[in-house]
Amino acid sequence: MDNTDAYLLNFKGYYLIRSTANTDLLKNLEEFEVRHDDVFIVTYPKSGTVWAQQILSLIYFEGHRNRTETVETLDRVPFLEHGVPKMKHQKRPSPRLFASHLPYYLAPKGLKNKKAKILYIYRNPKDVLISYFHFSNMMVMLEAPENIEDFMKKFLDGKVSGSLWFDHIRGWYEHRHEFNILFMMYEEMKKDLRSSVLKISSFLERELNEEDVEAVVKQATFENMKFDPQANYEQILKHDLGRRTDEGSFLRKGTVGDWKHHLTVEQNERFDRIFQSKMKDFPLKFIWDL
Ligand code: A3P
Repeated sequence: MDNTDAYLLNFKGYYLIRSTANTDLLKNLEEFEVRHDDVFIVTYPKSGTVWAQQILSLIYFEGHRNRTETVETLDRVPFLEHGVPKMKHQKRPSPRLFASHLPYYLAPKGLKNKKAKILYIYRNPKDVLISYFHFSNMMVMLEAPENIEDFMKKFLDGKVSGSLWFDHIRGWYEHRHEFNILFMMYEEMKKDLRSSVLKISSFLERELNEEDVEAVVKQATFENMKFDPQANYEQILKHDLGRRTDEGSFLRKGTVGDWKHHLTVEQNERFDRIFQSKMKDFPLKFIWDL
């Protein structure tokens, strides 16, 4: 049975999680007042959003670097489409950091002044698929897939929150000249976190001294974040969004190429065929394994 509508809300052709979506809020998002020094992390789900939220928090908030700050990740870097227009988040002092999974055509118009910065993180879609499969099994707000085959079909049909992966990345990339945007690859961050942090901080015009770079890199590794309750959204998992079981965390494996342990040869070949047909003229490269 197709339960898509029970779990997802279709807003102007884009699927969001029904239980957390608020249409009044969404309708006003295009007019959301963007400040010149705002920074937006934009991702397709399961592409490294929390990782980028952690890195940007560490770059911007010294208290986070020296572990004196107790602010939740979601309060440091709230999601634009999940309650940000609430006064609490709108009125935060600059510089404000936001996260979003929105497609380019639903983004606040103010982003087109090209002053506010966007960090777009992308990840090879086979690892996104597997990460998303596990996440969907864990979270009450998402439909639990029967198996990988079932989920892969939905993913390749765009019947998941975030809609079609191909459209998301293509849309943002093809419209990149309208925004002040840096594209970063999850796998490059994994390969060389230090260089990635430097590249991000330079794009954000936030030069860090040597000691700060060390602190950011150290606290943004998977090994550190895996045991950091804030990075794992523990509060929310316990209270608001809810897990199906006591097990599971936002930070699951954090590796490149996990898809090889899950996809059959046939599923992989089918995925490749679709990827080729949809992305053959796409200039960004992907890393499928390290
Ligand atoms: P896995 O499920 O493959 O482990 P998002 O934040 O967009 O939901 O993405 C979640 C994915 O990013 C998860 O992937 C998670 O483990 C991974 N991730 C989060 N922090 C990471 C880090 N510091 N290093 C590598 N991967 C990280």
